[in-house]
Amino acid sequence: MHAWLCDNPVGVDALTWTELPTPQPAAGQVLVAIQAASLNFPDLLIVQNKYQIKPPLPFVPGAEYAGVVQAVGEGVTHLSVGDSVACLSGTGGFGTHTLAPAELCLPLPPGFSAVDGAAFIMTYATSHHALMDRAQLQAGETVLVLGAAGGVGTAAIQIAKAAGARVIAAASSDEKCALCTRLGADASINYSRQNLRDELKTLTGGKGPDVVYDPVGGDYTEQAFRAIAWRGRYLVVGFAAGPIPALPLNLPLLKGASIVGVFWGDFAKREPASNAAMMRELAGWYAQGKIKPVIDRTMPMTELKAAYAHMGSRGVMGKLVLVN
Ligand SMILES: NC(=O)c1ccc[n+]([C@@H]2O[C@H](COP(=O)([O-])OP(=O)(O)OC[C@H]3O[C@@H](n4cnc5c(N)ncnc54)[C@H](OP(=O)(O)O)[C@@H]3O)[C@@H](O)[C@H]2O)c1
Repeated sequence: MHAWLCDNPVGVDALTWTELPTPQPAAGQVLVAIQAASLNFPDLLIVQNKYQIKPPLPFVPGAEYAGVVQAVGEGVTHLSVGDSVACLSGTGGFGTHTLAPAELCLPLPPGFSAVDGAAFIMTYATSHHALMDRAQLQAGETVLVLGAAGGVGTAAIQIAKAAGARVIAAASSDEKCALCTRLGADASINYSRQNLRDELKTLTGGKGPDVVYDPVGGDYTEQAFRAIAWRGRYLVVGFAAGPIPALPLNLPLLKGASIVGVFWGDFAKREPASNAAMMRELAGWYAQGKIKPVIDRTMPMTELKAAYAHMGSRGVMGKLVLVN
């Protein structure tokens, strides 16, 4: 087998495509032949030592992948050799094979491709948990999605529309805004050339969005918070722009608004039954065609460094998927 090895987390350049012995699964594990692995923003942070989870060195990055079970460890009962699975195990995906904890592998239903399977769990679970659980989004409410053409952003548009909300998508180019409109957004704001706060006032008749979904941070956070509606819920999802913003606390006071943290990974660990119910609902929505991963492009696994560069330069629209 081959995999991208990180033995010094100083950035993408230090990764090496390395031949390794193909391992055998221990109890509770399966060996997965990886067909597709998607790039999520945390995959970039983790090889720069900037992510909250710091795996022991060396490690193979790639949180999320899909493939075929090739060997099954002792005690594994719900998976067999030949099963197609999707898995989000945090690491291991950027290679040809990996050992995965069987409990984290979801069997892929017929019709669910490996590319979609590899691009599904992280973004849809995060956005569903954020909008439906943390923000308690109601039909008819207005949601602002920042970074709306990115991975979690495109999932957030689809989920908010499936929930009957009105969606305002905000992104940094007209091309990205056009994609968001095609995905069902009711309006869009190009925040590279339009004033976010002024446009939000116009688009909501001065009321402001009920829910703000923010995976970007930086300067947009305060502008968006200043526009939020009375009793609004501001979802803190991530900081793709880099700096972690600070907010004057008089702003939530004046709007009777809430700042709501979102950490899907810990939700899944701490509340596994609720997470499993959510994943079942998302699989149902996929089967009904209400949600579908937006695939920016697929690239060969060996071109991981170019894929990272594309993400780091804000080029990805939807998800980038590496394939073997
Ligand atoms: N809280 C959770 O549970 C959770 C789970 C998954 C992901 N996340 C976080 O969510 C964020 C987005 O993840 P993602 O996988 O959706 O990433 P992504 O596909 O790269 O999307 C991020 C978006 O952020 C915007 N952006 C602004 N400044 C940027 C910069 N300097 N570099 C890169 N992008 C920039 C870009 O949109 P524009 O160009 O339109 O501005 C981009 O489309 C990350 O911070 C990630 O860590 C959080």
